[in-house]
Amino acid sequence: MATKNKTIVLGVTGSISAYKAADLASRFTREGFRVDVILTESAVKFVAPLTFRNITGRPVITTLWDLDSEFSVEHVALAEAADIVLIAPATANIIAKIACGTADDMLSCTVLATKAPVVIAPAMNDNMWANPITQENVEKLKKRGFTFVEPAYGRLASGKMGTGRLTSLDEICGITLQVLGRKGDLAVKNIVVTAGGTQEPVDPVRCLTNRSSGKMGYAIAEAARNRGAQVTLISAPTALPEPTGIKVVYIKTAEEMLKAVQSAVKGADALVMAAAVADFRPVKAAGQKIKRADLSGLTLELEKTPDILAQAKGDFIRVGFAAESHDVVVNAKDKVKRKGLDLIVANDITEKDCGFGTDTNRVTIIDSQGKAEELPLLPKGEVADKILDRLSAKLKQGS
Ligand code: PMT
Repeated sequence: MATKNKTIVLGVTGSISAYKAADLASRFTREGFRVDVILTESAVKFVAPLTFRNITGRPVITTLWDLDSEFSVEHVALAEAADIVLIAPATANIIAKIACGTADDMLSCTVLATKAPVVIAPAMNDNMWANPITQENVEKLKKRGFTFVEPAYGRLASGKMGTGRLTSLDEICGITLQVLGRKGDLAVKNIVVTAGGTQEPVDPVRCLTNRSSGKMGYAIAEAARNRGAQVTLISAPTALPEPTGIKVVYIKTAEEMLKAVQSAVKGADALVMAAAVADFRPVKAAGQKIKRADLSGLTLELEKTPDILAQAKGDFIRVGFAAESHDVVVNAKDKVKRKGLDLIVANDITEKDCGFGTDTNRVTIIDSQGKAEELPLLPKGEVADKILDRLSAKLKQGS
């Protein structure tokens, strides 16, 4: 995993949204980061150091002058240990201090001394955000390579509506992981991933579809992004939030997915087909809703959908999935050959906690020679990384 043994320094400043930083600390800790939190003097008025200490299991830094702290002796130690620095929420004050090179507390010292990338998620009153002084500071820092996660529009601490709210934590996490992974093993690789179950219309109300939630495909897209790839995610309808830092193309039918894949693979390094594409569709969808009264004797005439994987050929690695309910490995080995794939990921969709809709999966990865590697039951994010390890090795072989 891209986050294992990595240190994130989470700087929290004095904003009403400082409590949300506790959730961020929790998410990054669960992702496997060592999370070192710096609270500014103002942040401590909003949130307690103990909260962060319990969440991260690490000492929390609130001052430059704590003689017992492992970081106070060498006040730049944290700056050197950091793989990435995230300031969320960031006030106008900390942004101005960083833009001026001020180093008068632990957070500003750390930012000035670090060589790690810095991500800043501002939160402030809308007039403060819109003020040209703040905007000049932001532009200056962007030019110097700082990444900003722009604040959102919504209800502010003052009660009025405006732009200045800390944006969604999903977006902050996604961008932080993306920035961290910029130099990963898939840096500058162009990877196309498909996800979800296509919907084949019967009439304007009904469709033929399947139980795919999109979780497996989205996990692969996000893991590839976190390893530096430029990702295009071609998604059938799902209930999942749009991932940040990924180009998402929404489609509904197999025919639409075919067109989107054919366009996205131009210049791509790899295609990973995790989508559950409907194998058949009604020959003709009714133009109007079929009424109950018309149902007696109704039969649906079906035809095959296009085989997207078989048609998407070119100078890129092709990874397919095999959703099987019996003879999993035998059937998958047959598919890898028949479709001329570089890899196939076989999952037994009848097994508990595997396949459709689950957060975990147990897969066997089979290469074009038929060599099979069985993996244990893992969260889909970890399955995604295992698949990408194989894909990355194949890309290196080819380069
Ligand atoms: O989305 P989740 O809820 O997380 O569930 C994950 C999953 C079970 C959907 C996923 O792990 C999975 O197995 N996806 C492939 C499902 C499938 O359609 O398998 P298949 O054996 O029918 O198809 C073989 C391969 O051909 C697949 O890569 C499929 O995307 C592709 N295909 C299938 C039909 C078609 N018309 N065109 C295709 O390209």
